Amino acid sequence: TRPIGVALLGCGVVGSEVVRLLTEQADELTARTGAPIELRGIAVRKLGKHRDVPAELLTTDSAALVAREDVDVVVEVVGGIEPVRTLLLQALRAGRSVVTANKALLAEHTAELAEAADASGADLYFEAAVAGAIPIVRPLRESLAGDRITRVVGIVNGTTNFILSAMDATGAGYAETLEEAGRLGYAEADPTADVDGFDAAAKAAILASLAFHTRVTAADVHREGIRDITASDLSAARALSCTVKLLALCERVPQADGSERVSARVYPAMVPLSHPLASVDGAFNAVVVEAEAAGRLMFYGQGAGGAPTASAVVGDLVAVCRNQVQGGRGPRESAYAQLAVSPMGDT
Ligand code: HSE
Repeated sequence: TRPIGVALLGCGVVGSEVVRLLTEQADELTARTGAPIELRGIAVRKLGKHRDVPAELLTTDSAALVAREDVDVVVEVVGGIEPVRTLLLQALRAGRSVVTANKALLAEHTAELAEAADASGADLYFEAAVAGAIPIVRPLRESLAGDRITRVVGIVNGTTNFILSAMDATGAGYAETLEEAGRLGYAEADPTADVDGFDAAAKAAILASLAFHTRVTAADVHREGIRDITASDLSAARALSCTVKLLALCERVPQADGSERVSARVYPAMVPLSHPLASVDGAFNAVVVEAEAAGRLMFYGQGAGGAPTASAVVGDLVAVCRNQVQGGRGPRESAYAQLAVSPMGDT
């Protein structure tokens, strides 16, 4: 069978793990997809600092790599909106399928990416964009496609969950716990996207869009972070047999006139210790899905990190390759209805 050519954009913690999985498991992946997966190139910002990947594959010209005739699939683990948005739109318009881990991009631009994919017949897969290794995108898009999802509630940011769990366990304050999280490599040098809830809001937008077959963008998500949570908030919660978690909550909200709105919110919430999300500690993520026929489902695991995120990326790549070998396509995304979104998450 003709090999499937892959362009990898980005070679940081996740990208280098993607290369490792593709290399170490080449034979198994070929058996699973029905065709060898061949890396055509790896686009990076600067040459000379990626010693763990084959040097001959590295390039700084991502546009040329994406446009190569022998590239069938573009895998993106760079992050941020531009230049990635332009590159991925070009790839999709040219019929190349895309696997991306980019939650910020998807939370803003899924509509145009999906339209480009549907117009050319390309695939758009993004399991790694929400909750790292945890399969949640595919279950919402595919396994639960026959059901009616009413609610999705989750802990989708590991950094803030690490901080809140540590504050609860030690009684320490927010500032010193954030510093400790930075020392241990959990919080980034600029923790704003995590602690102010932007990262979780992007993921909530993606989850709400998938769960309710509509378009929710990050700007639609009511967002409150954890900066103002104090040690005494946590001890007060304890006294009520609760803990504090940064939740992403997406719901269908029936209106008096019989119509329905979607509400998506990210906020620090009191969670009863008896609730399954209360025991999700440290940098772990978990998502609870409520569907009319399926009932309550819970997804739990590692929501960040190189290897766990690469697992989701390579899983998507296998799905895309299988589709190409078998002549099928993944789920269409552009055929969404537009449900009204409640302003500021009001119900
Ligand atoms: N900063 C994110 C987190 C990484 O802490 O969960 C994964 O998106």
